[in-house]
Amino acid sequence: MKALFILSKEDLKLAYAEFSAVMKKEFRAEENILIADCDEDEIKKAKKRLAYANSVFRFLFSCKTAELEAKMQEFDWQPVYNESFSIRAINGKTIKPEAEYAKFVWRKVKNPKVDLKEAKTKIFLICDKKIHVGIFLGETDKSYLGRKAAMKSAVYPTAINPKLAKAMVNLTGAEKNETICDPFCGTGGILVEAGLMGMKTIGCDISPRMINLSTKNLEKNKAKYWHLQVDDATKARIKCDYVATDLPYGRNSEVTEKPDKLYLNFLLNIKTWKIKKAVVSFPGFIDYKKIIKNAGFKIEEEFENYIHKSLTKKIVVLK
Ligand SMILES: C[S@@+](CC[C@H](N)C(=O)[O-])C[C@H]1O[C@@H](n2cnc3c(N)ncnc32)[C@H](O)[C@@H]1O
Repeated sequence: MKALFILSKEDLKLAYAEFSAVMKKEFRAEENILIADCDEDEIKKAKKRLAYANSVFRFLFSCKTAELEAKMQEFDWQPVYNESFSIRAINGKTIKPEAEYAKFVWRKVKNPKVDLKEAKTKIFLICDKKIHVGIFLGETDKSYLGRKAAMKSAVYPTAINPKLAKAMVNLTGAEKNETICDPFCGTGGILVEAGLMGMKTIGCDISPRMINLSTKNLEKNKAKYWHLQVDDATKARIKCDYVATDLPYGRNSEVTEKPDKLYLNFLLNIKTWKIKKAVVSFPGFIDYKKIIKNAGFKIEEEFENYIHKSLTKKIVVLK
């Protein structure tokens, strides 16, 4: 079936890249509406994994606002109809109220029943430059919202936003049961998101206190298959498929050497691990392109993440 995703408008470039890395398929997108062919298992995967998509629909058709009435009348509703229905316009307005369009569905199906609360066939009129018509299939997993306050406290301001952590893990393209390592794991934000999506995780941090905190967070969130070690990211020897990490930037987090040198030594070290991909968050004030080049990596994609007025992070996907 064709599936329509409503993406978060926060960062569309990141939303498209995350979709590509996780779903590994072609799509067409216009602003925050993305359409792709997906089977049921793929829709299940998208709902569990995508941090920058909000909801998913079975896509029926798109049309100009003025054409909606004619298209609703023309459409063969019976094959997509199940038990009862409702019609709702979102993102904007249709020319007529929703009930006016409902009559076309009513006339085309056997035993029509309107149920505004718990309809089995929730028809949505998604109003954008065009109108996209789809049947609601569900929201993506937003449980990361509940982890936000718990992970990021006044005591540990460097803890990563769980939504970004989830997207960074997704940008690696890792699948369930593959191994992701965060060599600067801090409070374990990236490891928790990866673990909850079914990956095996390995974390290291130079600070035993941070390893303690990561342990507590992984246990509290009931993540499975994790391993933590106190280690130096510039020297550790770790066997994994991918690296996803948020580098220390020397203001609030402990750093062992000057950031430029630390980042270069870290990249040179993980080069020996023979990983498939690394997703690294650099502080924006560093000449990260030069460091990456000197370490012999290539930038596949990069994104900007605004943290606060004096810090922007560069999220870089490395080959
Ligand atoms: C920006 S924080 C990571 C934040 C993490 N993503 C979180 O959610 O808490 C960076 C971490 O790097 C650790 N660190 C600094 N130098 C290190 C090194 N050479 N090897 C390993 N860890 C190091 C610090 O102790 C700190 O916990």
